[in-house]
Amino acid sequence: MDIRVFEDNLELDTAAARLIADLVTTKPNAVLGLATGSTPIGIYRSLVELSNKESISYKGVSSYNLDEYVGLTPDNDQSYAYYMNEHLFSKIDIPLNQTHLPDGMASHLDAFCNKYDRMLEGAHVDLQLLGLGHNGHIGFNEPASELSAGTHVVTLDEATREANARFFASIDEVPTQAVTMGVGSILKAERILLVVRGTDKASIVRRALTGPVTTDCPASLLQLHARVTVLLDREAASLL
Ligand code: GLP
Repeated sequence: MDIRVFEDNLELDTAAARLIADLVTTKPNAVLGLATGSTPIGIYRSLVELSNKESISYKGVSSYNLDEYVGLTPDNDQSYAYYMNEHLFSKIDIPLNQTHLPDGMASHLDAFCNKYDRMLEGAHVDLQLLGLGHNGHIGFNEPASELSAGTHVVTLDEATREANARFFASIDEVPTQAVTMGVGSILKAERILLVVRGTDKASIVRRALTGPVTTDCPASLLQLHARVTVLLDREAASLL
């Protein structure tokens, strides 16, 4: 694994944005796997700045997001669809019909999951951006004795709902379920960019990157991938 540690969050954002921008510049029809949460917000901000400055076009790019809450409509400001429009899609020239997110409002979720997997199989993600949950989740693949390879519906851990409650008016409003890409789909990406910040994630970073490969820590499966770049701030790297 290529692990890079940054003193400054802006430097980290710029480095991540640079990697994505360089990919799109060299491969105008690149396929991006995108993530949400607080971690990528600064990366998307830097990417938009860089793209404006260097006139980078996303007209040929397509994107697939990792996950979405079940039961939130795209116009709900806590949905990941809303987040992606707010932080990225509305600020670059990517055609919206080339952006894809799991549909947490699908009336037949299992059928939707199969459809998403078929789309992913045909897409071949060039670069998958990932954050890390405090319990080692990637996307919404929560620690468990077994993990799913493909897209599936997941019941969120209480700890995950609590961690994400900060974005909602109260924890009662945090959905109990989500649709997430499976670990198998994540690992199929050509390159993975894992970004983690903060002291509160230092111990899970250590477990994920240096601990045993186990479904109890889904991010530890990234150790099996040949091309993972990890960008950490000093705090997240403090136990390595
Ligand atoms: C969320 C998302 C993940 C994200 C993680 C960390 O629940 N489903 O994709 O990487 O948890 O979030 P944050 O960056 O806000 O700490």
